[in-house]
Amino acid sequence: MAISREFIQDIHDRLDIADVISSYVSLKPAGRRFKGLCPFHGEKTPSFTVYPETNSFYCFGCGAAGDVIGFIQRIENLDRIEAIKACADRAGLSMPEEGYDDSLTKRRLRILSANREAARFFNAQLREEKNRHALEYYLNRGLTPATITHFGLGYAPDDWHALTNHLKSMGYTENELILANLSRRSDGKAGCYDIFRNRMMFPIIDVRGNVVAFSGRRYNEQDKQKYVNTSDTPVFKKGNTIFGLNFAKNSSDSRLIIVEGQMDVIALHQAGFTNTVACLGTALTTEQANILARYAEELLICYDNDEAGRKATARALEILENTGLKLKVINMEGGKDPDEIIKTHGKERFNDLIKGAANRTEYRLNTEMSKYNVLTDDGKLKFLTAAAEVLADSSPMEAEIYTLRLANEFGINKDSLSAQIENAKKNLKRKKASERMKEDRAMLANSFSDKSNPERAKNIRAASAEEVLIASLMRNPDFYQKLRDRFSPDDFVTQFNRRIITHLIELIEGGYSTDVGMFSEVFSSEELGSIQRISFRGDETANTLKECEDCIKVIKEEKAALSNPLAQGGEITDEQFADFFRNKQQ
Ligand code: GTP
Ligand code: MN
Repeated sequence: MAISREFIQDIHDRLDIADVISSYVSLKPAGRRFKGLCPFHGEKTPSFTVYPETNSFYCFGCGAAGDVIGFIQRIENLDRIEAIKACADRAGLSMPEEGYDDSLTKRRLRILSANREAARFFNAQLREEKNRHALEYYLNRGLTPATITHFGLGYAPDDWHALTNHLKSMGYTENELILANLSRRSDGKAGCYDIFRNRMMFPIIDVRGNVVAFSGRRYNEQDKQKYVNTSDTPVFKKGNTIFGLNFAKNSSDSRLIIVEGQMDVIALHQAGFTNTVACLGTALTTEQANILARYAEELLICYDNDEAGRKATARALEILENTGLKLKVINMEGGKDPDEIIKTHGKERFNDLIKGAANRTEYRLNTEMSKYNVLTDDGKLKFLTAAAEVLADSSPMEAEIYTLRLANEFGINKDSLSAQIENAKKNLKRKKASERMKEDRAMLANSFSDKSNPERAKNIRAASAEEVLIASLMRNPDFYQKLRDRFSPDDFVTQFNRRIITHLIELIEGGYSTDVGMFSEVFSSEELGSIQRISFRGDETANTLKECEDCIKVIKEEKAALSNPLAQGGEITDEQFADFFRNKQQ
């Protein structure tokens, strides 16, 4: 049993979808709608649209669609029941006592509780005499016992079954442990074994305080893999988790510092920089960028002082550009990573580095400068050309300040540099226009290809009529009274549209709202995108009874044509042929 439609509708009625979404995405009004940058895919021009009048959202770029519940489900990585709970909370409604299927929620809760027990187990190992070396590892790296406790650090013993046996004795099933990605099934043998062995264990804790995953660093430097992380599970998606955010979100600073390694996060927190976070060894994703923007106004990027770190910085600046976050880059002098800097020079030094952090333009100028030998005329020319490109992409105020500074520093006329910048601006504009065109083209392709309805392309006339009828009825449910005897879902040619009309009729007959969100009970998120696209046809169509009747006529014609075996092509039997003629004559 699903949650009652009344309850879902109550949530829609009480929550302002634009208000809810705007705490995740910066939305700008556009007529009666709102637009913003899609949190579900990377884009530079806003194609994510919120429709308060139908309680729905839709992204023209990636096709993501749904209602407020679907949005929360996706952005918070919850299952549907949990998302409904979160929305109900926000709407001040209490969940119905029973009558819904919460098996998925129960399974997630089991995984979370297994994870919590695993974290306890790993931490307890540090107090065992036989694991003294593990505790010493942390102490040697300068961590205090208080820090170890604060982060819940632990050790996975060098044993194939220690954790699996422990959790099984607590009542967790092998299946649950496999789902949690704590254990793995043995090849060709009964039972399963521990995934983390002889590793320093860092629990990954989400902003709600759940242990969602683990990161295990090798204890033995000879081991091949430096880190083993939990792969994605029903409670964990690597691409939208940020290590340390559970603590950093409570720091009073409106800035966050992002570093590369978990050890850096831990060392910096211990040194008092409790606003530090890290991604889990992957390049920053759009989803992570959006999350960071929710918790901070300014972000200090502090990646390792090596080629990989510089590449990651450039990439992160690009991804973060549209988040509205103020960006700065810390110039890592005096060590390869923050952990090392703190250890060798102390926290004061790190504080100075923060104070000296460069803004985006400064950072990009420095990076360009380091590429050329500016003592030669040729190097100078190349650098200034590159600098003009950087300044063409900065604010007018910045451009003015740095133009003056560079002109002085390099002994050139400021007007010639300005002219160069103007030129670069034109090129940049062209480049951006072509990027936008690419995005538009992708968008267009997306709106034409419809994976939800594979029969559409072959039955375009029928499908179009079905869609117009659906769109009109969604918008004018009162028409249904007059049309109910004229058609049935069985007349529909394409299966997907038949499913839609069946559900739509159910909604109308039950007196429910016909908003796209009311379809989320039985349709997937991708399918909702298609339903949203169909509902848009209501904008282009006449929305009259007459039009609906015309659609029904076309649908029936097409259906009849389909049952004509001649239309199907291929061999027909004499019997079919006779049948066909009999039907025609009736
Ligand atoms: P220490 O060497 O102990 O100081 O570790 P670190 O945390 O500073 O690691 P490092 O700078 O080598 O790497 C930065 C981050 O990249 C790590 O914290 C991990 O998240 C990730 N990482 C590094 N090596 C691996 C690996 O082999 N596999 C995976 N999945 N991630 C890795
Ligand atoms: Mn390190």
